[in-house]
Amino acid sequence: MIKVSAPGKLHLLGEHSAVYGKPAILTSVNLRLTVTISASVNPVFNRELIQLKKIIEPIIKKQLEIETLPNYQLVISSQIPIGSGLGSSAAVCAAYIGALLCFLEVKWDLSLINRLSYEAEKVFQGNPSGGDNSTVVYGGLVWFRKESVDLKLIQPLSFTIPSKLSKKFIFINTGKPKEITADMVKLVRELAKKKPKVVEKFLADQEKLVKELLPTIKEGNEQEFVRIIREGERNLETIGVVSKTVRSMIRKIEAIGGAAKISGAGGKIGGAGVVLTFHPDKAKLLKLIKSDNLPYFTADLGVEGLKIES
Ligand code: PMV
Repeated sequence: MIKVSAPGKLHLLGEHSAVYGKPAILTSVNLRLTVTISASVNPVFNRELIQLKKIIEPIIKKQLEIETLPNYQLVISSQIPIGSGLGSSAAVCAAYIGALLCFLEVKWDLSLINRLSYEAEKVFQGNPSGGDNSTVVYGGLVWFRKESVDLKLIQPLSFTIPSKLSKKFIFINTGKPKEITADMVKLVRELAKKKPKVVEKFLADQEKLVKELLPTIKEGNEQEFVRIIREGERNLETIGVVSKTVRSMIRKIEAIGGAAKISGAGGKIGGAGVVLTFHPDKAKLLKLIKSDNLPYFTADLGVEGLKIES
């Protein structure tokens, strides 16, 4: 029996602009998805697993140049909410591919697993940047930039978020968006055709902010962090990826001195997935969240990426 687990991911900043070759900073988050694989004569697969199998197995067969695979049973358990910007599809692709390769006695190789996970993500997302799979595979903090279709700069950073910052985060689940990531990416692409100036400004501003965010995280500068997250969120709002309800929730957090932003593709109507919120005085933030009855959770950031569980 082989068990492989992958963490979730969060976009600290750079979602959507990453699709257009701008940098993004992502972090792994300590909600894990585990795939258990074992030999089986009579494996049973439910509908969801069959769908997944149809995506993953051809990728593995092509890579290993084999036509058939031995029978195996697969069990998936996950703490990552689906379709909420926490990288559930990247985590399932990476953990499944990692577990299946292990089962086939292929040497553990994160770079290979990451490349194959990207192939699988393409089936889920259409035109993903590759940031999600890179973060769940490598873990920690990741600087990501898609230079071209074939070249991606994935730089796992040598430092993680200092606890001074990381312990002041709270995550609010605003609900699964009606749209999937591919819809939101398409929406921005259409906007770029209709209003190129709006999207060009968004890209330039977001790139500047992502670059400023790097030293800000390293130094643990709270004031700057609040400013960058606020500006990054406002910027995402200009391209229409944050619903009205979520925008007004975020304004309330800003009004008490905090900062909040969507993480990932967002949503146009209703829920926008998990929103990351931060306040130099976390107690104030928690008070507001509780009084508004918002579903929240906390989780460690910058945790280990894909790993074989003992
Ligand atoms: O919501 P998620 O976890 O699928 O993140 C999507 C991030 C985008 O920048 C919108 C798309 C991408 O592939 O980078």
